Amino acid sequence: MSRLALLVWALVVLICRAGNSLGSNELDHATHLAAPPATYNWVGREEKLVGLDVYVSGSPSASAAVIMISDVYGWKAPLFRKLADKVAAYDYYAVAPDYFKGDSLVNISDLSTWITRHPPAAEVGTTNKLVEALKDKGIHSIGLAGFCWGGKVAILVGKETGPVKAIVQLHPAFAAASDYAEVVVPISILASPTDGLENFKGLLKMRRKEHLKVYLKIFKGVQHGWTIRYNETDKKAVEKANRAQNLMLKWFHKYL
Ligand SMILES: *[C@@H]1O[C@H](CO)[C@@H](O)[C@H](O)[C@H]1NC(C)=O
Ligand SMILES: *[C@@H]1O[C@H](CO)[C@@H](O)[C@H](O)[C@H]1NC(C)=O
Repeated sequence: MSRLALLVWALVVLICRAGNSLGSNELDHATHLAAPPATYNWVGREEKLVGLDVYVSGSPSASAAVIMISDVYGWKAPLFRKLADKVAAYDYYAVAPDYFKGDSLVNISDLSTWITRHPPAAEVGTTNKLVEALKDKGIHSIGLAGFCWGGKVAILVGKETGPVKAIVQLHPAFAAASDYAEVVVPISILASPTDGLENFKGLLKMRRKEHLKVYLKIFKGVQHGWTIRYNETDKKAVEKANRAQNLMLKWFHKYL
């Protein structure tokens, strides 16, 4: 190998390593403990869309829709459905698919094997199919709200322009420089201090100069998962979840 080739190779290895360590929030056990028990009587409906079970709330004749991409605990989590209903209350058609086809994570000890069955990249195609199905219903303005695992799916979809007009990541997992470098859809990132977003502030500032619409807020004193896995009897926890949820809605009001 020539010296130049060697140098290039060494650089590539270095860059890849940096990419992996920068804010790579692996799905670790400590931050993915099950939520405190919650109860909620959801008001939407369970239906089929593109062969998937979906929870829908609101009217399909709304002018805009929000696809809610769940965290590892899946589409049935009570406070996740509660948020879908809240989204619908603002006149969006909220659609929360069962991406895991009945295989949502139950026992946190299974996380490392579970994730091999459900790599986020595999769901980009699924999401694009859902988007097409919503277009067929006459909805041409679509937002993605991705939670943890779902945040990764959302940003991967957001690398191309189309009917998806806005993305919100809430406590995203697997944060990677390449995603923030390549996303082209207006994106709001609502992160906890452990999600690794601190590392991408410079990169996001650069993207803003390239006229990408970007909002980043790293909340203090919250845990990964705080927007949909909070303690309902803890007033402060409820308030912190609400603050993030309302920022999410604000992004959709602006771009959908
Ligand atoms: C979760 O899985 C671990 C390891 O397989 C097992 O020891 C534990 O009993 C399980 N917990 C529950 C609540 O099923
Ligand atoms: C939830 O919050 C209440 C009030 O602060 C507290 O008493 C309770 O222990 C918390 N529950 C859990 C599971 O953390």
